[in-house]
Amino acid sequence: MTAEPGPGPADDTISKLVAAFHEEAARGVSSRSDFEALKGRYLGREKGLVPALFARMREIPPADRASYGARANAAKREIEEAIRALGELVARGETEKSERAAAVDVTLPGRRVPAGSLHPVTIVRRRVEEIFLRMGYSIADGPEIENDAHNFEALNFPPEHPARDAQDTLFIDLQAPSPLLLRTHTSPVQIREMKKRGAPIKIISPGRVYRNESVDATHQPVFHQVEALVVDRGISMADLKGTVEAFFEALFGPGTRSRIIPTFFPFVEPGADVHVSCIFCNGAGCRTCKGSGWVELAGAGEVHPRVLEACGIDPEEFSGFAFGLGLDRVAMMLYEFPDLRLLFDGEERFLSQFAPLS
Ligand code: FA5
Repeated sequence: MTAEPGPGPADDTISKLVAAFHEEAARGVSSRSDFEALKGRYLGREKGLVPALFARMREIPPADRASYGARANAAKREIEEAIRALGELVARGETEKSERAAAVDVTLPGRRVPAGSLHPVTIVRRRVEEIFLRMGYSIADGPEIENDAHNFEALNFPPEHPARDAQDTLFIDLQAPSPLLLRTHTSPVQIREMKKRGAPIKIISPGRVYRNESVDATHQPVFHQVEALVVDRGISMADLKGTVEAFFEALFGPGTRSRIIPTFFPFVEPGADVHVSCIFCNGAGCRTCKGSGWVELAGAGEVHPRVLEACGIDPEEFSGFAFGLGLDRVAMMLYEFPDLRLLFDGEERFLSQFAPLS
C-alpha cells in the first residue's frame, strides 16, 4: 500500500503562494480598483487564495498539521501586512492626485474672462434715455401684452378704423373683454401714465413693440421705440419742434437738421413724421436715404383732445405733444450698418463690436 498522496512537510504550496504574491505586488498597482482586485484575490473570504490554504488543513496528515498551520499563519500575516502597506500607498497616491488637481499654480498666466458687450439697441436706448433725463423727463414702463383699450381705443382709433391696419397687430386673445394683443407701439404707455399721474406730465417710455410685418432692411416684426410725452399748460407744436431739434442734435451731433412733415395718426392733431438729415450724406442724397437726404425716424404730433379726455385731463386747460422714435433705425444710422436684420440674427461677431456712445 502506498502512502496516501497529500501535502506533507515538503509541501511548498505556501511558499509558492507567498512568492507569487510578492511578485504581483512588486509589479505595483496603478489604481484603487487594481488594489482591491489584488486584495480580493489573496484575502477574499470566499475565494481568496490565503483562506484556501486553511481550507486545505483537512488534507494535511495530522502529524504535519501544526507546522503547516504555523506556516500558513505566518504567510497570512506577511500577505496581510504587505497589502496594508500597499493600501496606504494607494491612498497616499489618491490624496496627492486630488491635491494636485485642486492646487492653484499662482505662477501660471491668468485666463482671460471674455467680457460681454451691450447690444447696440441697448447702447442707443441708454443714450436716448440720458438725453431725455437731462431735459427733465422721467422714465415710465408699460406692459408688452396690452389690450385693445390702451393700444387703440383710448388713442382714438375707433373700432374698424382703417388706421388700425397700418399697424398689423398680433392678437393674443380676441375673446377677452378688451382683446389682448402684443403692443404695436409704445403710445399705450402715454394712456396708462396720464390716467395714473394726470397732468402736467413729462415722460419717456422705451420698450419693445411687435407688428405682423414682412421683414426687410428697415422693417422688423419685433423692434424698439421710445415714446416721449409732455402735457402741460400752453404746450404747442413749437415745443415739439424745439424738443425734436435739441434731441436729434444731442444724439447725432451739432448741425443735424430735422423737419416735421404733416401726416395722420389718430391720437395726435396735427400729426407729423419726423425726418432727420441723413448722417451718411449730410443731406446730399445717398442709398440709405433713398436719395432724399432725409430719413424718417419718428412719428409725432400734438396730443389729440380726445386722448386727453379719455385719460381724465381737461383739454381746455392742458395741451401736449408726443413722439415715438424707432430705436433700431437710430442704431442703424449711428453705427452705419445697412440692414436692421443684422441686429437680430444673433451673430456674436457683429454684435460684439459696438462701443458705448460718448
Ligand atoms: C407709431 O408707432 C406711433 N405710435 C408714433 C407716434 C407717437 C406718433 C406719438 C405720434 C405721437 P410709426 O408706425 O410711424 O408710428 O412708428 C414710429 C417709428 O418706429 C418709425 O418712424 C420707425 O422709426 C419705427 N418703425 C416703425 N415700424 C418699424 C419696423 N417694422 N421695424 C423697425 N422700425 C420701425
